[in-house]
Amino acid sequence: MPYDLLIKGGTIVSASDTFIGDLAVVNGKVAAIGKIAESGKKVVDARGKVVLPGGIDAHTHFDMPFMGATTIDDFTTGSTAAIFGGTTSIVDFAIQKKGETFRHALDDWHRRADGKCAVDYGFHMIVTDFPEKQQKEMDRLVDEGVSSFKLFMAYPGIFMSDDTTIFRALLRTRDNGGIICMHAENGSVIDVLIQKAIAEGKTAPEWHALTRPMTAEAEATHRAIALAEMAGVPIYFVHLSAGDAMEEVRAARARGLPVFAETCPQYLYLSEDDYRRPGFEGAKFVMSPPLRPAGNSERLWSGLVRNDLQVVSTDHCSFCMKAGTNQPGKELGKKDFSKIPNGAPGVEYRMLLLWDAVQKGKITENRFVEITSANPAKLFGLYPRKGHLNPGADADIVILDPNKPFTFSLKNHHSAADYNPYEGVTVKGSIRDVFSRGEAMVLDGKWAGKTSHGKFLKRTPRSFN
Ligand code: URP
Ligand code: ZN
Ligand code: ZN
Repeated sequence: MPYDLLIKGGTIVSASDTFIGDLAVVNGKVAAIGKIAESGKKVVDARGKVVLPGGIDAHTHFDMPFMGATTIDDFTTGSTAAIFGGTTSIVDFAIQKKGETFRHALDDWHRRADGKCAVDYGFHMIVTDFPEKQQKEMDRLVDEGVSSFKLFMAYPGIFMSDDTTIFRALLRTRDNGGIICMHAENGSVIDVLIQKAIAEGKTAPEWHALTRPMTAEAEATHRAIALAEMAGVPIYFVHLSAGDAMEEVRAARARGLPVFAETCPQYLYLSEDDYRRPGFEGAKFVMSPPLRPAGNSERLWSGLVRNDLQVVSTDHCSFCMKAGTNQPGKELGKKDFSKIPNGAPGVEYRMLLLWDAVQKGKITENRFVEITSANPAKLFGLYPRKGHLNPGADADIVILDPNKPFTFSLKNHHSAADYNPYEGVTVKGSIRDVFSRGEAMVLDGKWAGKTSHGKFLKRTPRSFN
């Protein structure tokens, strides 16, 4: 029996090895890897190309209502952008409103994604309310494959949880096998700084960064680690941006605590200087935590190499600059930076930006696989189904041309956002083909899939302590 798909002669990269070989697929799963003599119904020549496990972006916000607007990418445009960028699985965020049950929120997000998503998708649950009666519901969510919960130490009045709520949620995950994903910024301090800046007439986008100091992130990170230590559970920090916050993670890990963190490409490639671009252009980069001063990114790169940081996700949260599409845009904050919807597009750029770091010798190709695919799979209950290309895994495969440069632009991206944060940046490498569960989604850089291809990922509970 010939294989369904045979990928021949590529440089196959895993989290531990790099070798030239073939890869065979049957029924959407990797069937064999190595030197393969048998034939395939479809054969893809990968000589001179790099064969990678599909990217897993553990932090996206598609179709998310936030700060007076809804993200411009829904599950269809967002996941199409993901696929073109070599990402075949995402974990998005369902939002529990105050007073609402997790069940209600989850049903809502299932409706948003069902039949409209090109990539396989799971959900984290954003917790805004955690009374006693909600605790059993959290256990039920873990059983249903929603095994991670985001809490916020920022955004008072919208998402922010107090220490009581955070500690209760941490304690509950000790027993139910979930994991808390923490947005660590001291929201109370930031709120005072914002009110002061606005009262002084400091309304331009750069004040977004100046009112969210690194220390506010480091303090919250320290506090959350202490709370997790007292609860005796692992904790995961989302979108870690500040070198000082990373030092808190590093110190905790050095003490043997199960503390994990992701950073995002924007904190590796952009800086606070971008807020000072002419006119209102700095609004493109308004996100929280904010971009940090030049020099901070080198600390994060070192942390990625040293394993102080385990994952790179995107926090894709796209708003247009201009209203006039079907949603208000960042213009909402033209007179007051604190009203600029927070977030930026990213899901399509992550893999190539990081592959460029491989080409430049900043990280190895094996570390690339770890931080873009294997580690998010392990931390979020998708391993061994995803995150590697050994027999039995889903055949989520990216074929990358390491010699063909790619230039990021609004003109060629697939997000519905009306700007590209990396406009004009050229990287060494481009995505040629993408397969999801053995099905061609992108061939020779062109769309070949179905936007309804993605399936809900029921994730397993945490398997580490
Ligand atoms: O600015 C951001 N990051 N927007 C999305 C919400 C969040 O905190 O992840
Ligand atoms: Zn956040
Ligand atoms: Zn986010």
